Amino acid sequence: MIYSRIVSTGSYLPPRRLTNADLTAELAAQGIETSDEWIVERTGIHARHFAAPDVTCSDLAHQASLQALASSGLQAADIDLIVVATSTPDMVFPSAATILQHKLGITNGCPAFDVQAVCSGFVYALTVADSLIKTGTAKRALVVGAEVFSRILDFKDRTTCVLFGDGAGAVILEASDTPGILASDLHADGRHKDILCVPGTVSGGQVLGDPTLKMDGPAVFKLAVGVLESAARATLAKAGKTDADIDWLIPHQANIRIMQSMAKKLKMPQEKLIVTVDQHGNTSAASIPLALDSAVRSGKIKRGDTLMLEGVGGGFTWGAVLVQY
Ligand SMILES: CC(C)(COP(=O)(O)OP(=O)(O)OC[C@H]1O[C@@H](n2cnc3c(N)ncnc32)[C@H](O)[C@@H]1OP(=O)(O)O)[C@@H](O)C(=O)NCCC(=O)NCCS
Repeated sequence: MIYSRIVSTGSYLPPRRLTNADLTAELAAQGIETSDEWIVERTGIHARHFAAPDVTCSDLAHQASLQALASSGLQAADIDLIVVATSTPDMVFPSAATILQHKLGITNGCPAFDVQAVCSGFVYALTVADSLIKTGTAKRALVVGAEVFSRILDFKDRTTCVLFGDGAGAVILEASDTPGILASDLHADGRHKDILCVPGTVSGGQVLGDPTLKMDGPAVFKLAVGVLESAARATLAKAGKTDADIDWLIPHQANIRIMQSMAKKLKMPQEKLIVTVDQHGNTSAASIPLALDSAVRSGKIKRGDTLMLEGVGGGFTWGAVLVQY
């Protein structure tokens, strides 16, 4: 049996960091009222990073990938599959993954493509890469979540613009005799497509419709809590494990209240919940690999630990991946 295991992780945050006080002041200048108290109480977010105007998704992905490569001891040329999870790619096409391949100087012709499952993008991408490794199509995959969500925010809509940030996280997966990725469980339900969306598109040389993020926060909140629990339970069942086997819970970092309720449902102490939403905000597909890398680098996550990764987002999409690190 071929498994895939995580060889290394990396991440990158653009240098411009805005605390809630910074953002509140910027919004006040536009006549939009919010406060540090409201943002912290409802979401747990204290700060987020925004990319400079000339910095693209693939630039962030590139920096995170270089860090993952440096930690792996591998060369860029060793990579034989690139999957980038993003909803904010550099351009309509080609994919951020092919642009990343070029930036990394990889000329071995390996397949490179984007996965678009919004905030579930990383668990989708990891599952796709794992499947391609298990079937022998790839041996060393670079899997990245990278977003510049600041580009699609409506800074006149205080119900959404305070929630998101930019960043990237990367993992290198390698074929192995031992696990690795133990199981995963992916889902989507397009009936809920309107509760979290960017409804605009490009046509005839023009942007048609609204190209900024729209969200029915309370509807997303309610749906997220239920589906995250069912995905986690299905993943545990597929791997023959129970709640008690999970060492670290790494949910999509959107809202501390959703994350804490997940830990409770899985009967995990809050100390076993990896939290970066406070410092990064919601970085969509980048949030899980950013949180993973930060916990690996801080020494919390150790080799052999069992990690439950959980994503949920627009589509509606959701899923979970159980990993033995
Ligand atoms: C978005 C979210 C934080 C809003 O929290 P909430 O408790 O549901 O708040 P509501 O939307 O009901 O709004 C409550 C009040 O706060 C106000 N408000 C909204 N945004 C505000 C802000 N930034 N600052 C101050 N007040 C704000 C609203 O106008 C509303 O005021 P009203 O009662 O006078 O009408 C919450 O619904 C949430 O986290 N949802 C899930 C979002 C998520 O996880 N998305 C990503 C999934 S991938």
